[in-house]
Order: sequence, then structure tokens, then C-alpha cells
Amino acid sequence: MSSTDRVLSVAGLKVSFGKAQVLDGIDLHVDRGECLAVVGPNGAGKTTLLRALSRLNESTSTSIEFDGKPLPDSAYATVMAGLVHCPERRRLFPGLTIRDNLELGARRLRKQPDTKAEDLERVFSLFPKLKERASQSAGTLSGGEQQQCAIGRSLMGRPTLLLLDEPTLGLSVGVKEAIIGSIQTIKDAGTTMLLVEQDVNFAFRCADRVIVLEHGQVAREGPTAQIAADPYVKQAYLGVA
Ligand SMILES: Nc1ncnc2c1ncn2[C@@H]1O[C@H](COP(=O)(O)OP(=O)(O)O)[C@@H](O)[C@H]1O
Ligand SMILES: [Mg+2]
Repeated sequence: MSSTDRVLSVAGLKVSFGKAQVLDGIDLHVDRGECLAVVGPNGAGKTTLLRALSRLNESTSTSIEFDGKPLPDSAYATVMAGLVHCPERRRLFPGLTIRDNLELGARRLRKQPDTKAEDLERVFSLFPKLKERASQSAGTLSGGEQQQCAIGRSLMGRPTLLLLDEPTLGLSVGVKEAIIGSIQTIKDAGTTMLLVEQDVNFAFRCADRVIVLEHGQVAREGPTAQIAADPYVKQAYLGVA
């Protein structure tokens, strides 16, 4: 595999908060065009992993290579390099309009202003509700629409790698299905993704490969079909005896 096909390569990633070691030596990789899902129980360290990759948490590691180079040290430089984080619980600016929230995501490409209109149209065709309500403040959106807006904002930066943290958290079944459909569309269009999910069935539907994270360590790793057929995973995560 050439280095350009490997978008992210992480070795020995550790995070601790005071005396609590939350990530205890994580190795993982993501190849161009694939979706790697990280699943695991509440508190396993999934959000901490994504925040470490986007340099929002202090971490140590043997190495982290992103898009053929060492991952930058600062959160700002990481986004500018193309690693874009769609955070848990959306984190929109509720007082700004939907259009303004989306356009904030385009900052990474500010030297190419002509791409903004094209990217906005792409987001609006994926999420037509956002187009209808573009001038409304983001705080007036439903939970599902806010999630659409957060995903749309991330896409505006044309991510080389999109980190998605629990995009279906707290949504009703129908709304969740719509979000899953749009994530599959984004993947089919060629976006490389690292998807964190507590909903294992959803993760299995989108992912090419899966990591099961437990207590800050990789408990299982492999192609989705292999992980879905693993007796331990079936019993612990899918409720199959
Ligand atoms: N800023 C922080 N300070 C102290 N502990 C934290 C902090 N962030 C997360 N943790 C702890 O790290 C563990 C993993 O949290 P998190 O990564 O949010 O898990 P997950 O996303 O898998 O539910 C939890 O025990 C959590 O309480
Ligand atoms: Mg989390």
C-alpha cells in the first residue's frame, strides 16, 4: 500500500486525565475512501480518541501520520491540514443562521472562495431542509436538523478525513435512519471517515472495518463481517446469545 492510500496511521496513542489513563496505547489506521468505525460502551474513550486526533486533548504517541506527514500539533493546524471533527452533541452556534454556521466550516478553504457556493449547494442537496431554513437561526432547528447542519458544516471544509462522533445520539428511529442514509451517501461520494458510534448495528452498516474500544484499549479489530460474526461481539454488543 502506498503512503498516499493511508490517510491516518496512529501508533501507541495515550491520553490521561490526572491519574486516570483513558487511552492506553491505541494503534489504528484509516485508508483513503474507507469508513473505520470505533464502537464501545459509554466511557470507553471514544470521544477522547477523536479529541486527541484533532488535538483538542493532550496526548502522547509513538507516531501519528496524517496524509503522508506528521499530524500537526495544534487544533487549528490539524483542521487546516484536512482533519475535520464533527463533534458529539453538534456544537453549533445557535444564535447564528444555518448558512453562517455552514460557512464557518469553509474557513479551511478561504484561499479558494469560489468553492464555497459549490460546497453550499452540495450540502443543500444532501439536506434540503437546511436550504429551506438557511436564514433561520440554528437554535430553532430540531435535533436531527442540527445534526444535519453539523455534518454539513464539516463537509464545507472538504475533509481529507471526517471524524464523526455519535451522529445519531438522542435521535428518534426515523430521524436516525435519515442521518444514516446521508452518511452512506457521503461515504459513497468518496469521503474517508472515522465514525464513532454506540449504535453498533448502525456502525456495522456503514463501516468497512471496525475497532471495538473497551477501557481505553483495542479489544477487537477487523473487517466488519468478521467483527459482526465474533461470538464475544455478538453476545456483548448485539444481544445474541
Ligand atoms: N476532560 C476530562 N477530564 C477528566 N476525565 C475525562 C475528561 N474527558 C473524558 N474523561 C473521562 O474519560 C473516560 C472516557 O470518556 P469519553 O472519551 O468521553 O468516552 P466515550 O466517548 O467512549 O463515552 C471517561 O471515564 C470520562 O469520564
Ligand atoms: Mg463520547
